[in-house]
Amino acid sequence: MNALITTVSGYVPPKVLSNKDLEKLVDTNDEWIKSRTGISERRLLEDGEGTSVMGIEVVKSICEKRGIDPTDIDLIICATVTPDYQFPSTANIIADKAGATNAWSFDINAACSGFLYALTTGSQFIETGKYKKVIVVGADKMSSIIDYTDRTTCVLFGDGAGGVLLEPTDENIGIMDSILYTDGAGQKHLYQKAGGSVKPSSIESVEAKEHFVYQEGQPVFKAAVMGMADVSEEIMKKNNLSSDDVAWLVPHQANLRIIDATARRMGLNKDKVMINIDKYGNTTAGTIPLCLWEWEKELKKGDNIILATFGGGFTWGACYLKWGYNYNE
Ligand code: UT7
Repeated sequence: MNALITTVSGYVPPKVLSNKDLEKLVDTNDEWIKSRTGISERRLLEDGEGTSVMGIEVVKSICEKRGIDPTDIDLIICATVTPDYQFPSTANIIADKAGATNAWSFDINAACSGFLYALTTGSQFIETGKYKKVIVVGADKMSSIIDYTDRTTCVLFGDGAGGVLLEPTDENIGIMDSILYTDGAGQKHLYQKAGGSVKPSSIESVEAKEHFVYQEGQPVFKAAVMGMADVSEEIMKKNNLSSDDVAWLVPHQANLRIIDATARRMGLNKDKVMINIDKYGNTTAGTIPLCLWEWEKELKKGDNIILATFGGGFTWGACYLKWGYNYNE
């Protein structure tokens, strides 16, 4: 039994924050941002709206597209580092507000690798035969943890969400393999300093801006280039895939230069690489399902697709899937 993606959906908020807008907030410019990251603009949720707002839209539209009732869903997993609350989990809120009253639900926190961790976890429940309908959502409101006076981070991130429905199949398609890694020693280069149990929120922590993303760009960049390229090559070799066999690379959208390095290592031309970082920036757990959603109409049944990611933790990995349907058939 394989777990097959049978529907995909995405949601980005309407409000746009362009590079020109950022030029008014910090000492930066459109040329620097585009040439160093590939980003032109990103989307932002309104104040008071939580990550679940986007996840609910994704789950509802998956159900509509697939023609199922939300009560048919067995399990919802939400990958996020910007949950609505410390607890309950954002997946619980999404399940309630989307009407998935028969589903149980939980969150996964693996930063930018969250969607691949959640996809791999969700597929196990299908492969064992335990469940028939699992929705995996990747959603982040990065604007809630970004310091818009810090030019080194505020240009990078945006808000967005995407998700997939997993169902069982006897055919030789679906999630074929995944390789996931963690190295907690990378924590010091990319994390949120306060708000957890080590340093609960206090007047001092707020004044020191410790609730925002802290990132040392260069060490993360180096580790990301190596990690994402290595694991993508590893999963191709493990599954005897040549570059000609691969129809699409779906990379995490953190920096166009990291994406290019991964594609080069895999021997792939740019026309086989899904890239929408220019429009949305880095939406953390949202990037990969947002790409699948945008490219869904171009995907063909049997296409070999490699999903690859790197993020805070450090966490990284790749997933190999054989696409399961032609759009509108
Ligand atoms: O998804 C989670 C994982 N995260 C990532 O994968 C991010 C990995 N890191 C990166 O993508 C890159 O390191 C950044 C995009 C964050 C930075 O690019 P970089 O080429 O590594 O730049 P840098 O940090 O070496 O900075 C070069 C210069 C510095 O100025 P000086 O010291 O050379 O005078 C920075 O202060 O660029 C300056 N700089 C900026 N200038 C204009 C940094 N941010 C900006 C900015 N606008 N926004």
